[in-house]
Amino acid sequence: MKTLTVANQKGGVGKTTLVVHLAHHAAEQGLRVLVVDLDSQRNASSSLQTYALPQLQSQMLFGEAPIAWPVTAMEPHIDLLEGGAKLVEIDRAPVQVINAFLKNMASAPGSYDLCLIDTPPVPGLRTQAALIFADAAVAPIDLDQYALDGIKSLLQTVTGIKSKYNAKLDFLGMLPSRFNTHSPAQRRGLTDLLAGYPKFVLPAAIALRSSIGEAAAERLPVWKIGKTAAKEAGKEIRQALDLILNRMGVSHGA
Ligand SMILES: Nc1ncnc2c1ncn2[C@@H]1O[C@H](COP(=O)(O)OP(=O)(O)OP(=O)(O)O)[C@@H](O)[C@H]1O
Ligand SMILES: [Mg+2]
Repeated sequence: MKTLTVANQKGGVGKTTLVVHLAHHAAEQGLRVLVVDLDSQRNASSSLQTYALPQLQSQMLFGEAPIAWPVTAMEPHIDLLEGGAKLVEIDRAPVQVINAFLKNMASAPGSYDLCLIDTPPVPGLRTQAALIFADAAVAPIDLDQYALDGIKSLLQTVTGIKSKYNAKLDFLGMLPSRFNTHSPAQRRGLTDLLAGYPKFVLPAAIALRSSIGEAAAERLPVWKIGKTAAKEAGKEIRQALDLILNRMGVSHGA
């Protein structure tokens, strides 16, 4: 199982949208996918509710008791470890909860090909634990909120965790999301970002498309809503999703 943590302490940048679409796309590509929602807002959980594992909640990962993982199906599918309100307490818990998380995640069934961890828009133990466990991380960023300070602290968090706790962590990069291609300010933001951090920007972007918001309301990936514009948006987003899966070496048949 390869694990991708999707993180950015800024809110509303497209983290959950990426996790949900990546889960659907990977399962359609033939992979067995585990989604872990570490956000008490439960947005990924509500989008993927039909795939929830019964009687399990992601906050249990931080407890001493070993997780009773179910026997998972061998065919391609999504399983969700849903989030709950108590997740906010984890950030105030003793740091040992990270060890419990690492142990419980390491015991996840080997039949999963891919694990996707959605994180909350706050720095804290949950996001740290998810980055310490992960094989790879990606940070959706909003070019409107492009602020060097925010990006610097994001990169510091990731590089700090890589050097102190998790040498295998592969930071795939920042992924410009909700990108308004018609906005000169956003296009300038992208140019500045590429100039300032050439090694830390994925060569892909997720454009701002109203159909992506509509898809979220319908709890479907954008390519499943029956509008021509949504099909276009679906094609676009799948390019970014394929790039991420390829970089992680979990593409179908890899
Ligand atoms: N490419 C896009 N085009 C249009 N709307 C989008 C796009 N990406 C995300 N959205 C919408 O923007 C809002 C924020 O997106 P999302 O929930 O994925 O961000 P987030 O980073 O997970 O937020 P939070 O930090 O609160 O968890 C949602 O309403 C979502 O439907
Ligand atoms: Mg979210």
